[in-house]
Amino acid sequence: MSRKPLISGNWKMNLNHFEAIQVTQKLAYLVGKDELEHADVSLHPPFTDIRSVQTVIDSDKLGYALGAQHCHWEDKGAFTGEVSPVFLAKLGVQYVICGHSERRELFGETDEMVAKKVAAIQQHGMTPIMCVGETLAEREAGDTEAKVLGQVRAGLAGRTSEQVGRMVIAYEPIWAIGTGRTATAEDAQQLCAAIRSCVAELSGAEAADTLRVQYGGSVKAGTIAELIAQPDVDGALVGGASLDADEFARICKLGV
Ligand code: PGA
Repeated sequence: MSRKPLISGNWKMNLNHFEAIQVTQKLAYLVGKDELEHADVSLHPPFTDIRSVQTVIDSDKLGYALGAQHCHWEDKGAFTGEVSPVFLAKLGVQYVICGHSERRELFGETDEMVAKKVAAIQQHGMTPIMCVGETLAEREAGDTEAKVLGQVRAGLAGRTSEQVGRMVIAYEPIWAIGTGRTATAEDAQQLCAAIRSCVAELSGAEAADTLRVQYGGSVKAGTIAELIAQPDVDGALVGGASLDADEFARICKLGV
């Protein structure tokens, strides 16, 4: 089974809606529909920009998928400041990041909350990009697999094989996020393969075969080709480098 790579631009809390429109238009100029045949590309603007980016994608019939960085698991209610998955689906959002390490570390998201978000995102017809990853201390203590696979097991709790097969898991070693330090392509492959084996055990071989596993953490135009050449790396979750249309365009073209 060949899995089409997914390149996701996580803009984090950067770019106001005017800037987001500019980056999207510049990217569209640099990476046309034909060039998107070998990779799916999703854009994950801040909430205040989503409608603007959606309008550009729709009116110019661009081949990019709309994404979000986060959502709540409830459809509606007294959750000041939160955003419902129903609203995202209504805007045409296709991919929602959940359990990003910044949300887990800075905003107290637990494995249990992440599992609820995964379920809610799928319930509304969108694809979760569930992030997992270890800290530097955990890596140095030899606990990488225990941490990462623990997060995978918790996040997939209650999902059917069919649902798991449609998910995306992003392996993002925390020490490589925004630091300029990237895991080697071999490290990325090893962990992405371990995640796939864990999924095979939990949800069966078919789900493991269709699930896409991204690598994330300081991915740049110069590193994407080697990462994507790994058999179990099916794309990348890109932060800093996705803010620069030129650099991100080269990543979307898989470094060629
Ligand atoms: P980075 O961020 O590419 O800036 O390291 C990746 C991420 O946090 O998703």
